Amino acid sequence: MKVLGIETSCDETGIALYDTEQGLLAHALYSQIDLHAQYGGVVPELASRDHVRKALPLIESVLKSANCTKNDLDGIAYTQGPGLVGALMVGAALAKGLGFVLNIPTVGVHHMEGHLLAPFLDPSVQVKPPFVALLVSGGHTQLIHVKALGEYELLGETIDDAVGEAFDKTAKIMGLPYPGGPNIEKLAKQGTSGKFKLPRPMTDRPGLDFSFSGLKTATMTALAKAAQVNQLHQLKDIDLQLKADIALAFQEAVIDTLRIKCQRALDQTGLNQLVIAGGVSANQSLRTEFDAMAKKKNYQVIYPQQAFCTDNGAMIAYAGALRLQTGLSSDQAIQVLPRWPLKQLQKISSNA
Ligand code: KG4
Ligand code: ZN
Repeated sequence: MKVLGIETSCDETGIALYDTEQGLLAHALYSQIDLHAQYGGVVPELASRDHVRKALPLIESVLKSANCTKNDLDGIAYTQGPGLVGALMVGAALAKGLGFVLNIPTVGVHHMEGHLLAPFLDPSVQVKPPFVALLVSGGHTQLIHVKALGEYELLGETIDDAVGEAFDKTAKIMGLPYPGGPNIEKLAKQGTSGKFKLPRPMTDRPGLDFSFSGLKTATMTALAKAAQVNQLHQLKDIDLQLKADIALAFQEAVIDTLRIKCQRALDQTGLNQLVIAGGVSANQSLRTEFDAMAKKKNYQVIYPQQAFCTDNGAMIAYAGALRLQTGLSSDQAIQVLPRWPLKQLQKISSNA
């Protein structure tokens, strides 16, 4: 079964073609980062318009590189939510229009289920549910007990900023470009560990929820004090080494906090498999730290391939294909769900 995946939930137009027998045939991504960079974050209306411009040419190019035509498609998967309503509408309308013309089924995919299943695009991955998943992106930070494919119990989540959001906001105040995650990671490589002491939020009490807003503030306060500036906007112009030291301290605090909470989730559920996915899982220091902990504590940890950590069409094509294979599809209404709890999803039955 050949499934076209369309991802337009935020600022990346991601298109992919996944074959349930042969795996991923082709994928393409257009990032709108340059378009939004001057505003320091995503401008929803500009995002929608750019998806309109880029989606169709990307579909043509993906089909061409897979040596296929639209008539080879057996189904279409699109991101139905959560995300920016206008951006989601572009992908949903395109999927429904194409599905109608080609007379093939379409299925709306939950963006975070896409992230969660992204590691399984690699056919050599052996992990199967039940497992614990840590989803770390720009909009979400969640710990999930994956009981079966499509059956998700939320164990904990952020009560304020998502991890990626904390990276982005901290970077912005330091004058680093958007998106902040990769730029903080790059700068942190030049930092010296131990120069700053930052909190590991909510690790001193029981529970699996997170809070990253206070860490962001603590980071700014510590930096302003060290640089001896009174105004936050002055932090853009301070000594680069100081920025690198705080970038490293911030990153270490985030990773440490995630590691402590993941260990708790594994202990609480009695599971020994951990999946980490979403944009922040691209962070190499996070992977090094988790790999070391997994070895020490005797659990298995897996991540998506680097290209499939941040938003992409391949994860949507894959998650959609799993549902289409079991006969699940959406009706013809163009309906998106900007807010959509994972627990509302239907279990994907295994007798496909
Ligand atoms: O999953 P994603 O592409 O989009 C959402 O669904 O939100 O995640 C984007 C987030 C951004 O906040 C970005 O700063 C963060 O992932 N990110 C990183 C890294 N690469 C992307 N954070 C830390 N380290 C990275 N290398
Ligand atoms: Zn995402």
